[in-house]
Amino acid sequence: MTGADGFVGRHLCASLRAAGDEVLPASGPHRSRTPEGLTLEITDLQSVRNLVEETRPEAVIHLAGVSSVAQSHQHPQRAFTVNVLGGVNLLTAVRDLAPRARVLLIGSGEVYGPVAPGLRAFEEYPLIPTSPYAASKIGAEMAGLQFFRSYGLEVLSARPFNHLGAGQDPGFVVPSFASQLQAIKRGAQPPVLKVGNLEPVRDFSHVLDVVDAYRLLLEKGQPGGVYNVCSGEGRTIRSLVEQLSELAGVEVELQVDPARFRPSDVPYLVGDSLRLDRLGWRRQRTVRQALGDVLREFELQ
Ligand code: GDD
Repeated sequence: MTGADGFVGRHLCASLRAAGDEVLPASGPHRSRTPEGLTLEITDLQSVRNLVEETRPEAVIHLAGVSSVAQSHQHPQRAFTVNVLGGVNLLTAVRDLAPRARVLLIGSGEVYGPVAPGLRAFEEYPLIPTSPYAASKIGAEMAGLQFFRSYGLEVLSARPFNHLGAGQDPGFVVPSFASQLQAIKRGAQPPVLKVGNLEPVRDFSHVLDVVDAYRLLLEKGQPGGVYNVCSGEGRTIRSLVEQLSELAGVEVELQVDPARFRPSDVPYLVGDSLRLDRLGWRRQRTVRQALGDVLREFELQ
């Protein structure tokens, strides 16, 4: 597993191990690692080849990558280098050294760009990237499809929409708000919540349901297939502020921080998960539970 020490990677490692699977977690050279962790520089083909040669995996889950849409606007080159070149390096190394391994590429629902309000993007919906992040995820996914078609590599792609739970970087919207709300509750900062654009509609799931989806895809997904991982429910970012404040039990004044706005923001992004549902995926946790988990994480910090 690449990106094993990231937000989703840590939950996925724990879930796979609990099910009895052997997991070889690989993380970037600059990240904190678990004692048994393997080091990987995804942008360096030789580093990726060494790891694949050393481990000869039966399956690969590729989570390593730039995950922040906001940061990709500031550093487009980094998003493309890590996400596209990194993906191609991994595919090349697996093709050459572990050609029977299944590869699950983790893309993003952000690839659809603006979805018409009221609709849900299914997998054939047009891809209209409006961030370097989205374009880079399309690039990596296309490379995966090409490796499947040209070399018969068993590549599958997931397109997760927004997901929430403990361990997400406070650069993302919910942990950012949750950490501020807990600081306000402790009296460590005045009751003013700094926010960006609250009007966009997004499709949120609990990270543990997303983890279940990835395990299911590894087991039952169709090689060459692309699968949305989403709830089908749209909610505004403003509604999350309200729910978080209510759960935290604090009243706040909202202060719009222009630095939190993006050069372009997808106004409405909701997906359709029918293809994944047909494999047997059922969401088992609510967004409210996920918001509670995130708030608890920042309770004592
Ligand atoms: N980060 C952040 N901080 N976003 C804010 C804030 C704020 O203070 N205020 C409002 N927003 C809005 C953003 O403008 C965006 O419309 C929305 O909240 C969600 O922002 P993020 O949490 O940063 O996530 P994202 O939607 O850009 O990307 C996430 O979802 C994608 C799938 O849909 C990430 O998890 C991606 O990695 C993932 O692919």
